[in-house]
Amino acid sequence: MLPTSLIAHPDHAVVWHDNQLYLLDQRELPHTITFIMCNSGAAVATAIRDMVVRGAPAIGVAVAYAVVLAARERLLNTTNDWREHLNEDFALLAAARPTAVNLFWALKRMREFIATLDHVDPLPALLAEAQRIHAEDIAANQTLGALGAALIDTPTAIITHCNAGALATGGYGTALGVVRSAFAAGNIRCVYADETRPWLQGSRLTAWELHESGIPVTVQADVAAASLMARGDVGWVIVGADRIAANGDVCNKIGTYGLAILARHHGVKFMVAAPLSTVDLDTPNGAAIPIEERAADEVLCCGGQRVAPAGVAARNPVFDVTPAALVDYIVTECGVIAQPDAAKLHALYQTAPIA
Ligand code: MRU
Repeated sequence: MLPTSLIAHPDHAVVWHDNQLYLLDQRELPHTITFIMCNSGAAVATAIRDMVVRGAPAIGVAVAYAVVLAARERLLNTTNDWREHLNEDFALLAAARPTAVNLFWALKRMREFIATLDHVDPLPALLAEAQRIHAEDIAANQTLGALGAALIDTPTAIITHCNAGALATGGYGTALGVVRSAFAAGNIRCVYADETRPWLQGSRLTAWELHESGIPVTVQADVAAASLMARGDVGWVIVGADRIAANGDVCNKIGTYGLAILARHHGVKFMVAAPLSTVDLDTPNGAAIPIEERAADEVLCCGGQRVAPAGVAARNPVFDVTPAALVDYIVTECGVIAQPDAAKLHALYQTAPIA
């Protein structure tokens, strides 16, 4: 059982407790607070695929713990050749979702760590590494939150898209980490949360966690952003990222690209907040990022009710790419890049402790 102090807090979406992994079931929010207990790598892979846990950094943290669970199983069943058998778990976890690079980043880091292990019992060391990944993500978000907030020098309303908050990370949040820090500094008047069809991460998750934190939030349909910007009521668009390519192109929740175009047209600043674990220097540009396509029914139905005629098809790409030229700032824990490009990103990455 989870201690009650851990329940119902946005910062506790991914919890290691009593040798098991507990994932706050984000499909059920905001109505129901339920944790799903995972005791195998396969269970975590299923939870990621089915959106129990989502958001790029949270997926990375969950995958790190999944490797601990998988290694425990392999050690119980195979002893000497556990590392070889673990490759199957790595493959299963890598196939869970294709776009958020934090998943692959965390797998690579755990794989490299395993190669250094010569312990009789590797599990305590593996768990410590997963917990380091988790703690580092929270610390990165707190640092980038402060850096992003420092860019907002006057009280303003902002638009955010999808959920890049505590729920989507190890804790504190990326885009919403900036919002939390800026709100503490007195510079957030209101957050407009795009509802984010079809999974409604904006209305279900962002609105829930901001409301829980006492930050004023107003939900709007995705298509309402243009008219809000035209009224001159918004100073910033602040979003997270699932993968940032080497040239500064930003992949994030479908609809982000449209917001960036609108922001440029209306003179609204566009900020992307993400840890360096989301930067993928091996992917040259946005066109090379694999974009996940999910089931058509996610679009054809709403609240369990079909909203399109039977026999009609649907597209469901769940991410899009915003060209670097439309991004005013990329904010990471290692610094801020204005008008990102390949040279600036590369230079920043060189300064990073994780590079
Ligand atoms: O499909 P999801 O809910 O995993 O998509 C999440 C997003 O697009 C977030 O904006 C992104 O991962 C940034 S999270 C800090």
